[in-house]
Amino acid sequence: MHNFYELDVPCRLLRDDVDISTYPEFKDYHWAVWNDRSDRYMTAEAIEFIKTMGIQDQVWFNNGMQPNHVTVFRGNKDTFMDIHCDRGSSWCINYIWGSSRSEMLWWQPNDDVELTAEMCSVGSEYMKYDADQCTLIEKTACQGPMLVRIDTPHNVINHDADNYRWCLSIRDLSSKWTWEEAVEHFKPWFKSDAY
Ligand SMILES: [Fe+2]
Repeated sequence: MHNFYELDVPCRLLRDDVDISTYPEFKDYHWAVWNDRSDRYMTAEAIEFIKTMGIQDQVWFNNGMQPNHVTVFRGNKDTFMDIHCDRGSSWCINYIWGSSRSEMLWWQPNDDVELTAEMCSVGSEYMKYDADQCTLIEKTACQGPMLVRIDTPHNVINHDADNYRWCLSIRDLSSKWTWEEAVEHFKPWFKSDAY
């Protein structure tokens, strides 16, 4: 089983008038993340299509379920994100834009690995793995849309020195699927049967 699968979405996912000037500033963090309304980023066709996949593109927001919201990441230029596991979901559907080259990587931590607590830009704590205590198991430079695993150690590198790496992340935290269940659920929309 892989850690990512490209999806066949038969319409344009990202609006062409996304207004990046209104995005929040997170000066203290090199990798910013926030939740936002999906219609500010996604085309109406894409929002409808995502619903036909059996998800409501919803995230936890202000301690409640917020339908029709997405998580947005802005990775800084020529920067790597710490290796971490997400909480709350084993999977998400990501779509990346803005950066000419970036990668998502998955890691196997050594048996004796010690975790360090770090803070992310939304103020929540996450556990960070050091790369020298992990072995790389898979990576992809795909832009998506793709189903990706997020409950095992992973990170992202933006190799572009001039551009941010934007990532739209569609999550349905109500699904409670394991990674295996998510793969089974989204299989009909996988791009290639080479997997
Ligand atoms: Fe993550």
